[in-house]
Amino acid sequence: MIDKYINSVIQRDCLEVMRNIPDESVDITFADPPFNLKKKYNGYKDNKEFNTYLKWCKCWIYEMVRITKSTGSIFVHNIPKWLTYYSDILNEIAYFKHWIAWDAPTSPMGKMLQPSHYGVLFYAKDREKLKFYEIRHPHKRDRRTGYLQKDYGGKKSSLHPFGPLVSDVWTDIHRIKHNKYRDDHPCQLPIHLLERIILMSTDEGDIVLDPFVGTGTTAIAAKRLGRKYIGFDIDKNYISIAEKHLLQEIIKSRIGNVWVSFFLNEVVTIRDKDWKELSKYYSLPKSNKEIDYTKIELKNKSEIILHINNGGDKAEKRNNRIQQTLFKQKEELL
Ligand SMILES: C[S@@+](CC[C@H](N)C(=O)[O-])C[C@H]1O[C@@H](n2cnc3c(N)ncnc32)[C@H](O)[C@@H]1O
Repeated sequence: MIDKYINSVIQRDCLEVMRNIPDESVDITFADPPFNLKKKYNGYKDNKEFNTYLKWCKCWIYEMVRITKSTGSIFVHNIPKWLTYYSDILNEIAYFKHWIAWDAPTSPMGKMLQPSHYGVLFYAKDREKLKFYEIRHPHKRDRRTGYLQKDYGGKKSSLHPFGPLVSDVWTDIHRIKHNKYRDDHPCQLPIHLLERIILMSTDEGDIVLDPFVGTGTTAIAAKRLGRKYIGFDIDKNYISIAEKHLLQEIIKSRIGNVWVSFFLNEVVTIRDKDWKELSKYYSLPKSNKEIDYTKIELKNKSEIILHINNGGDKAEKRNNRIQQTLFKQKEELL
């Protein structure tokens, strides 16, 4: 039943389609629903009446939890106001793990405090069986001197060469600001935000489902990381953009056998457990104390980046070429 949806993005009302998916079919679910803030989508009207919106959210949240496997996680992204209501719903049917504060300025709210974060609720379907990997991000450094921004005091010898474990406050991922990097969609998320979520909650080959996939961010992140994806969106234009991206997507975000997340040619998220293998690809200082003022660099960085951007090994490249040809043929027929 689930097989027919795998590795596709489909124009459907997510609620209708999720109701037909059997229990415990996918590894994780991630939702970035409309915020009911009168955003200008292509077709969808983002102005439901308060209770109608919440009633609707309750329905798709329930479906997300139902179709997620017992080892899986449920993630929901929104502004804090709606997340307070979502927590009420989720606390009844899943287990709270984290409220991730994603530090990103939002629209001014008149005379109140300036909203400066979005939230991602992270729930487990089953507390005991949850699949979760600790993740790390690079140390933050002073741009001019290269020194670490955080003062680790007497603990410099125990610094991790790559960087600290990721906390529940994410300040290192920014919203897409420039139009040239975004599609014609009012609230597209950055791909590496989704890559971080996918790296910490899934393994290669796992299924990631997004009921509000927009122009395909979650699906692209899953594909780059060797996961399977399923995406729904009610809007045919967004689905068409997402399909196009996915068919042209050849990046395999992997160094050796290790999946990592890249942004602007820098590794931005790794799993803690992969460091032993990954460290072979880095030039590391002799003493950990040097981490305080020395940024570690990938050996053969340009080759590694080229390999990643070209889709990895030969078989994968061939597969990508076939997919692109099929897509061109499909476009010519339309
Ligand atoms: C906040 S946007 C998601 C953006 C997405 N995360 C991205 O990065 O492109 C919400 C999306 O939900 C879609 N949508 C609204 N109602 C829907 C429904 N009932 N079923 C599926 N998609 C729906 C809208 O068309 C819109 O693209």
